[in-house]
Amino acid sequence: MCGIVGILGKSSVANNLVDALRRLEYRGYDSAGVATVEDGTLDRRRAEGKLRNLEKRLLAEPLAGRTGIGHTRWATHGRPIERNAHPHMTAKVSVVHNGIIENFRDLRAKLEAKGHRFETDTDTEAVVHLITDELDQSNDPVAAAHKALNQLQGAFALGIIFAGHDDLMIAARKGSPLAIGHGSGEMYLGSDAIALAPFTDAITYLEEGDWAVLHRSGADIYDRDGARIERPMIKAVASSLLVDKGNYRHFMAKEIHEQPEVISHTLANYLDMAAARVNFPDLGVDLANISRVTISACGTAYYAGLVAKYWIERFARLPVDIDVASEMRYRETPLPENGLAIFVSQSGETADTLATLRYCKANRQHVASIVNVRTSTIARESHAVLPTLAGPEIGVASTKAFTCQLSVLACLAIAIGRARGEIAPEQETALVTALTEVPRHVAAILRNEDIYLPVAQDLAKARDVLYLGRGSSFPIALEGALKLKEISYIHAEGYAAGELKHGPIALIDESVPVIVVAPEDELFEKTVSNLQEVAARGGQIILISDAPPEKAGCKLAAHIPMPVVDAFIAPLLYAVPIQLIAYQTAVQIGTDVDQPRNLAKSVTVE
Ligand code: G6P
Repeated sequence: MCGIVGILGKSSVANNLVDALRRLEYRGYDSAGVATVEDGTLDRRRAEGKLRNLEKRLLAEPLAGRTGIGHTRWATHGRPIERNAHPHMTAKVSVVHNGIIENFRDLRAKLEAKGHRFETDTDTEAVVHLITDELDQSNDPVAAAHKALNQLQGAFALGIIFAGHDDLMIAARKGSPLAIGHGSGEMYLGSDAIALAPFTDAITYLEEGDWAVLHRSGADIYDRDGARIERPMIKAVASSLLVDKGNYRHFMAKEIHEQPEVISHTLANYLDMAAARVNFPDLGVDLANISRVTISACGTAYYAGLVAKYWIERFARLPVDIDVASEMRYRETPLPENGLAIFVSQSGETADTLATLRYCKANRQHVASIVNVRTSTIARESHAVLPTLAGPEIGVASTKAFTCQLSVLACLAIAIGRARGEIAPEQETALVTALTEVPRHVAAILRNEDIYLPVAQDLAKARDVLYLGRGSSFPIALEGALKLKEISYIHAEGYAAGELKHGPIALIDESVPVIVVAPEDELFEKTVSNLQEVAARGGQIILISDAPPEKAGCKLAAHIPMPVVDAFIAPLLYAVPIQLIAYQTAVQIGTDVDQPRNLAKSVTVE
């Protein structure tokens, strides 16, 4: 994740760009840079490391120009050196970028074959040359940028300025947030409203797939189909400039939609995307010599741990013991020599998780925690901390923290597998490539949100709902049931699909919706058999699957289509529809989605 800003100002903008970047440093500080248009020519200053290095550079070599963009970097592709720092540019165009351009290798190869010379190791540079290539053919910057945008795959936000155009900036949002700020005769662009707070509180948030053409007089916004569209301008109040809901009705909806970006940010922390390798921090323990992994957590975080059990046992061939923290803390479970104990917690303060951590520490386990709050007690008491970079999660029902926990755990499973010699380099490349594609697929799933409305309308009338899944989809079924009961107050149970006939099948009749989480993996056919058992008893089946509905072999009440992906990353993607189903059902019922009754975000009592 990186921070991007842009200003179409009345006077020189370099200092204001730096001011705005200072408020975005939380998004990364490997390097920073600004570029401007002055007398029709593009120029830039960049510096490795924190923003103060860029400030020093600008003092020594000032940059004039009323039109500019700026960037603070969290390196994903290419080492954090000045050569790889943004803005990237040719003589015709300059670009700042946040996110990942997945097809940059293909684009780069094509553009190099056409004679474009690349100077960096970044994915972003492909965008710069792609737009330049379009400009070589027609000197229309808006058309060139639009054509280029249509060729980009991935989840990203972009700010673009052009040589010879002092009153033009293009912005695009696909998976990473972007806010436009309205001034008086000036316009701004920022990764969030906080960046723009010194200049304006009149904000328009771009929506997924939007792109915009900015002039000093205002912004023309287009949706992903190229249709001109109006997005509301809102007044950001001072307190909301810290954490606000943007255009969303609830924090939960905003946090669901932040997932492409925060997953990308989290993955970037544990992967070398350019090399398609895991780049895991030293946990202070030899991963090749761990005898067993013990995972403990509560609530949603526990289900993330349960997915990890499937991943670690399968890919690293290492046994994993997992239990909810409230049970494990009193189970007096014997713990092995050379054991690694992993604790998963959004808040890092959950009392039962902390108590279990202390038990494991007292029993000579090496303790690593996956937390969203780095200053938390669980983080402080761990031997190693693996942060999720989800940003503040306000909605009580955990969403983006869950998928970020899964992201870290997926990388950990690969790291252990590689250390133990269970994952060959080609397999690591395939698994890491699949992970890199998660933000794009999540963004695509989120674009299809309308299909959940009829499902939610039906579920809102139900008294009981069953969720089924097999293998790594079983924890997702459990998480689906938890999400639904937390925020809609409908009774829901998650079951391993094979357990259906050992009890819950007695509940099934026409009034019971059964939500089936079933990627078309090697277990799909087994789950299909369970579908028949439900269908034979009149159950209303809602199938979430990449398999076409015909493959269910029975009548479905609804089919939620999913992208076809490597089965490894399925839990990260299938988590999203079950969040949307719960959210939309709760909205239908009219509950207090962000603060459901009787629950708390951070549970510091046992
Ligand atoms: C509460 C929250 C859940 C969360 C659980 C564990 O029950 O409502 O969303 O999963 O606590 O919290 P933690 O902060 O440890 O992840």
